[in-house]
Amino acid sequence: MAVTQSAWSRYWQSGAGESCFAEGGAPEIRQFWQSYLQGLSAGTRVLDAACGGGALTRQLVEYKTGFEVTGVDYASELPEVSGASIQAGISLESLPFESGAFGAVVSQFGLEYADHERALGEVLRVLADDGALGLVMHKAGSPLLQAAQRERDSISPLLDDGGLLATARSLAAAADRNTAIARSRATDTAFKTATQGDVTATLDWALTFFAEIMENWPRRGQRYLAGNCALLVDELSAFKARIDAMHQAALSAEAVHRLVARVEASKPRLSVRLSPLGAEDQPLAWAVTAVQRG
Ligand SMILES: C[S@@+](CC[C@H](N)C(=O)[O-])C[C@H]1O[C@@H](n2cnc3c(N)ncnc32)[C@H](O)[C@@H]1O
Repeated sequence: MAVTQSAWSRYWQSGAGESCFAEGGAPEIRQFWQSYLQGLSAGTRVLDAACGGGALTRQLVEYKTGFEVTGVDYASELPEVSGASIQAGISLESLPFESGAFGAVVSQFGLEYADHERALGEVLRVLADDGALGLVMHKAGSPLLQAAQRERDSISPLLDDGGLLATARSLAAAADRNTAIARSRATDTAFKTATQGDVTATLDWALTFFAEIMENWPRRGQRYLAGNCALLVDELSAFKARIDAMHQAALSAEAVHRLVARVEASKPRLSVRLSPLGAEDQPLAWAVTAVQRG
């Protein structure tokens, strides 16, 4: 399993949240979907491509008109969404549906994470010729990416040489009689990290977890220490992998124009529109829609 695939599986299994980095919750994005969904008729068969924790899938099932909703994602385990069929372990590059099977395909920060040339080919294949496409995708350099990068940078010192990982290893190896000294060194390392730069939400979470480990360690022993430090390091590494994937996924203006041209060529009956979402000078994301010419 690729690093990012296991990082995503871990994320959704942990029940961490319904959306990643909370970006799906931005009001501009919710509004975009509300107005997009108005154009779909009742009962439309809708595919949510790379549905993750179901942030958009939920909006689809709760929409007043009622759709027949399927969500797919390549993560190995996903939360259920009542009223939708959720299928885990499905790659967008190879969708197990017949050509033209869906009246609408939507994706919120999903398609661009896949190999987008191949994934778009598959999405266009399963979308009916008179269907509707709705894609919200990361934009290179957007405020969402900048905020995620700040979170990533804030936790890096914990994982660097001499940071939390190294400290945890030396603590786990230390004999019980050294516990008090080792514990104060570890707390020092964590404290220095915290006072170096931005204390983001992720760093705050990591340091709180670390402080809890330090507090319980003398009572619960070396195995507790080793196990929980490893867990913390795994969580932080998976978080970094997800942010790296986000940067890799983000589309430049040139790339999104190429994607639009491809949709136009493949679905001549649809009218394709590209609109940046959010503030004009600092858009949050790209939105691409393709709907029947009216
Ligand atoms: C940023 S999350 C978005 C999830 C959800 N759409 C949302 O709005 O919260 C990206 C999702 O893409 C999925 N993903 C990445 N590459 C994929 C691929 N090749 N095929 C299917 N899913 C993929 C990940 O597992 C993850 O759930």
